[in-house]
Amino acid sequence: MSFTKVGSIDEIEPGTGKEVTVEGVEIVVLRSDEGDFHAMAKECPHAGFSMVDGIIEDGCVECAAHGAQFDLETGEPQSPAHDPLQIYPVQITDGFVAVDVKA
Ligand code: FES
Repeated sequence: MSFTKVGSIDEIEPGTGKEVTVEGVEIVVLRSDEGDFHAMAKECPHAGFSMVDGIIEDGCVECAAHGAQFDLETGEPQSPAHDPLQIYPVQITDGFVAVDVKA
């Protein structure tokens, strides 16, 4: 695994997200209201909107555009999306968020 720092934990307030490109891959890092971090492909597989305004709840991330939900572990979709969302591993070290886009 190869984790790349994408910013400090203080940069992303709980309930918000950040778009970032890692090794040429456009991703979104979201911080839940509870404070945990999750990384995923930037584009929602339903219609391509950014997941940056996604909402994390009950083990899923919900796209803010049309409400498709994706499992945070597997990326498996629920209606209206049919294709899975790519989920990436996140590591928190010394106050920084790092993501492995090659996993
Ligand atoms: S673009 Fe995400 S649900 Fe439609």
